[in-house]
Amino acid sequence: MDTIQIFDTTLRDGEQSPGFSMNCEEKLQLARQIEQLGVDVLEAGFPIASPGDLEATRAVAAEIRGCRVAALARARQEDVDAALRGLEPAAQPRLHLFLATSDLHLKHKLRIGREEAFDRITEMIRFGRKHCEEVEFSAEDASRTEMDYLCRVVLGAVEAGANVINLPDTVGYSTPDEYAEMFRQVRARLGAHPEVVLSAHCHDDLGLAVANSLAAIEAGVRQIECTINGIGERAGNASLEELIVALHVRQNHYGVATRIQLEKLYPTSRMLSSITGVPVPPNKAVVGANAFAHEAGIHQDGILKNPLTYEIIVPEKVGVPARRLVLGKHSGRNAFRARLADLGFETTDAEIAECYRLAIVQADAEKEITDRDLISIIHRVRRGQAPAAAASGPAAAGVR
Ligand code: KIV
Ligand code: ZN
Repeated sequence: MDTIQIFDTTLRDGEQSPGFSMNCEEKLQLARQIEQLGVDVLEAGFPIASPGDLEATRAVAAEIRGCRVAALARARQEDVDAALRGLEPAAQPRLHLFLATSDLHLKHKLRIGREEAFDRITEMIRFGRKHCEEVEFSAEDASRTEMDYLCRVVLGAVEAGANVINLPDTVGYSTPDEYAEMFRQVRARLGAHPEVVLSAHCHDDLGLAVANSLAAIEAGVRQIECTINGIGERAGNASLEELIVALHVRQNHYGVATRIQLEKLYPTSRMLSSITGVPVPPNKAVVGANAFAHEAGIHQDGILKNPLTYEIIVPEKVGVPARRLVLGKHSGRNAFRARLADLGFETTDAEIAECYRLAIVQADAEKEITDRDLISIIHRVRRGQAPAAAASGPAAAGVR
């Protein structure tokens, strides 16, 4: 069975959308979880964008070893230099170069002609390949690019040394049929280069990002770019969890595999939401609070008799906990440990003892400890910033 490479861009395309910015420590925390999830490529940032982005890209590149780490750059020397600096500590680096190819973008945004764009792309790829073992080229706005020119650029990029060619539906305009057809035509023109991996990157402006990504797989694409909870520019990118569950549940149709650990989908989704403070909509497929909730009497009756009547996947399979524990001052240590594990944190006894002490103090004032509170507490404990234990009180006395 063919394997689909999963390229996660939560820390880049996702992070650059309003409300989702993260600091370096938060990006590292999420990067560790995304690595555990089993992605093949993790895009850590766009280093030219800010010193903070460069620092976070370097931090992720220095630590993550379970997958490839990518950094984004426009086809411009300063961008490429910054991205290469970000990738310096990576064990498996990938330079991700992009430039728009549609006439609309060339004329109105970049104010350059097709020839100049072609030259910039091929020159930067050649330079990139001298300094990085893997180069991916993205033809921004590919789905609105004239086909002959797109094929010429793709061939030029491959001949200049690009290993992966990404053809984004940058503005979420394509339909599944059109998007698949674009890949079929490009693949046919790339006949002499079967080793080149084609990649899809879809935005959700018409709510079609996952459908378009699946159509691309049917057209032979073997890398999909996506984000946790589908976050990303405007309406977002293809949602990683929806895509993975579709490939799993409908394996009889798609016939491909991924390396993703399904049971880590829900904890990863919750970790992102807790770190950014942006809740997951309750009706979101796979990871929304209602995704496995049943209220109608007829449905409840069916579920009690046989869950397959109204559930196409067992909640536990994607890591959805069977029960929800409310954490407050009456909770015990095991409840805190279990909730932290749901959020993706494996804790030692000493860490739990310290988290518990801090949480009980906070719960006295705030009644309930939210997931966000708990993540902030575990971060403080791990950074050794927890205040000294109070001299008295049930927690300090080890009553619970
Ligand atoms: O949507 C897009 O075209 C992008 C590219 C930079 C890959 O995010
Ligand atoms: Zn994008």
